[in-house]
Amino acid sequence: MAKTKSAFFCQSCGAQSAKWIGNCPSCNEWNTYVEEIIQGEGDKKTPGISAKSQRANTPHLINEITFSSENRIEIQDKELARVLGGGLVPGSIVLFGGEPGIGKSTLMLQLALKENKLKVLYVSGEESEQQIRMRAERIGYSNPNCYILTETSTQNIFKQIETLEPNILIIDSIQTLHTAYIDSSPGSISQIRECASELLRFAKESSIPVFLVGHITKDGNLAGPKILEHMVDTVLQFEGDRNHVYRLLRSQKNRFGSTNELGIYEMQGSGLREVNNPSEILITTRDEQLSGIAISATLEGVRPLLIETQALVSSAAYGTPQRSSTGFDLRRLSMLLAVLEKRCGFKLGIKDVFLNIAGGLRVDDPAIDLGVVCAILSSSEDIAISPKVCFAAEVGLSGEIRPVTRVDQRILEAEKLGFEEIFISKYNLKGLPKAGIKIHAVSKVEDVFEQLFG
Ligand code: TYD
Ligand code: MG
Repeated sequence: MAKTKSAFFCQSCGAQSAKWIGNCPSCNEWNTYVEEIIQGEGDKKTPGISAKSQRANTPHLINEITFSSENRIEIQDKELARVLGGGLVPGSIVLFGGEPGIGKSTLMLQLALKENKLKVLYVSGEESEQQIRMRAERIGYSNPNCYILTETSTQNIFKQIETLEPNILIIDSIQTLHTAYIDSSPGSISQIRECASELLRFAKESSIPVFLVGHITKDGNLAGPKILEHMVDTVLQFEGDRNHVYRLLRSQKNRFGSTNELGIYEMQGSGLREVNNPSEILITTRDEQLSGIAISATLEGVRPLLIETQALVSSAAYGTPQRSSTGFDLRRLSMLLAVLEKRCGFKLGIKDVFLNIAGGLRVDDPAIDLGVVCAILSSSEDIAISPKVCFAAEVGLSGEIRPVTRVDQRILEAEKLGFEEIFISKYNLKGLPKAGIKIHAVSKVEDVFEQLFG
């Protein structure tokens, strides 16, 4: 029998140590070391499949390496395909994280059921076959080539794969897997790491794309060591409030595409529906005009989105005025308030200011600045902004209106959605194609207010 050997692993970063230590030298976290049983290195056979991985590779000249640029696997789910960078890359390994109950299993099963030209193997360690079947009934798609396997041992999974030869493999979830080569319990750092590396080897050798569903911890990080994120090609995150119907799919890392793409889904009784025109859901249609609302034309990745900003400015009830913001950086809000105070003479220092980005989104695009500023002033002065007006510009520290990237796309989207006027920076005017929407080119915050409120 092999001699059992144990080591201590940091549960936060996966660093290994021979003895217990209180403060992890690699990630600086406290009290994260836990003892796990590992097997003696000498007994460790190469797990996973085949002896192929044992073969030594030889170097090749980069120009002699053959590749085909357009060999991505097309997938039916357009939102997912876009976030992945335009389809699934063969042999890629995608880590898909999200809070419990957000809809990870639903999205993965939906993917398996929609790809009716491909053979998909959905491995579940969390739910029974009956449960998955029931969910499939709810979703309503059907794929004659979708196989369900309830299994948690990687060796057994590889055995099944050899006979089945699927085109896509989905593992739900990586925390439930265990490999026979390591003795510690499923979900521990060393198991997660070893199972993931077996799957990684499998994906690279077989060119089968693999989706790994991963849990996230209370503080929003992917459970398991950071090393998991380093190993995989793509890290996707499924976000949203469980009490809201909208779910956002973001990529945090992508070796095959941009990371600033955004996918939007709506959770319905029959699974997740792709939201192809998000601007329509992000802007509330209302009959009466209300003060404190401004619409900004922002970009999420390459996707133009019109987003509603709501502000409420009221006299401070206590000595220290409150500033609160949802979906927008609080420090940036303070900066914009300071600009308004200093450059435009609005006395906001004695007011409470609340800001909210509608739809539960978080916006980092600086082009939302002008919309934020206008929403605040609209609320402060109690004058409504016409719902046909939108904004796309950054505000500088001296109150200057700065240009933003890809303004033509923003204008086009605003025009498409029926807006009649847009405020942009005057430095953005150069080379702008003619648009059917009235463009206000402004250079200072004061000009905007003059044109807006007269
Ligand atoms: P699930 O995919 O099980 O979440 P995860 O795998 O991320 O833990 O999603 C479960 C939630 O989704 C559950 O609360 C019910 C809801 N849901 C719907 O609203 N409609 C549906 O069609 C399905 C399948 C689930
Ligand atoms: Mg699940």
